[in-house]
Amino acid sequence: MDELIQRAAEQLIKSKQAISLTGAGCSTESGISDFRGPNGIWTKNPEAERKANQSYARFQQNPKEYWKESLTGVSLLGNLGNALPNPGHHALAEMEKMGILKCIITQNIDNLHQKAGNKRVLDYHGNISLLRCFSCDTRYDRKEYDLERLLAENRLPPLCQKCNGVLKSDIVHFHEAIPMDVAQESQKEAETCDLMLICGTSAVVVPFAYLPRIARQRQWGKKPIIIEVNADPTPLTEEGISDYLIRGKTGTILPKIVEEIKKRTG
Ligand code: APR
Repeated sequence: MDELIQRAAEQLIKSKQAISLTGAGCSTESGISDFRGPNGIWTKNPEAERKANQSYARFQQNPKEYWKESLTGVSLLGNLGNALPNPGHHALAEMEKMGILKCIITQNIDNLHQKAGNKRVLDYHGNISLLRCFSCDTRYDRKEYDLERLLAENRLPPLCQKCNGVLKSDIVHFHEAIPMDVAQESQKEAETCDLMLICGTSAVVVPFAYLPRIARQRQWGKKPIIIEVNADPTPLTEEGISDYLIRGKTGTILPKIVEEIKKRTG
């Protein structure tokens, strides 16, 4: 593994437009379960995945009930508010500070990359700290709305201050379209990067999992280097979309890559 860590460090140093794609595996060392790993939420509770597949329909049918359920029910991911970034998040933030990492495209809704200090983060599946208008896509900080009070006063769902449309969580549910702004920016990053560092994702959920393929199948210019850091091989490994997999924990491997970068750049 050390040889691959050194190779990754050297390639990151030489890169001009390195980006990182991340998934739930980056947050398990912060105490947040992933979905499809051995102890994943869907692995242990397929019924929860079936129910999650119906969330978007439930919102569209009855936004008031959707909000009541989400404010009174138990979150599948536990209390994300108290979760803290782990050494893997901090390593990616250091890579951005070094001017190496230009962008993170994350499937995680936990806001931990932002808490670790990354400035350019595309929340591909939304962000738990935000609300988004179902009609005009305007986003609001969740703290701008006293949701508990709206619940107590039977005044749900929260409404958009711009168009009076119904607000939902910014979290992108199964069968919900990725917000246009994030989708377009992510596609552009995948088309223009020269290195893609894919960390902690099973790479099975689309359209996110198309991004590495867009990078790999680029018809013009130099082919990007695609590196995976993951506990297990993924379809990207098996199909040769990634150049190599550094197998192990993101919280261990990513800090080692930063260490190797520092050794080489002084
Ligand atoms: N270090 C490295 N890899 C890890 C670690 C870790 N500490 N912990 C788990 N993993 C790996 C698992 O082995 C698995 O391959 O991370 C991957 C996580 O995969 P998933 O659980 O499928 O999570 P993710 O790929 O982010 O899921 C994508 O699915 O349900 C939806 O919206 C949800 O955004 C999520 C999407």
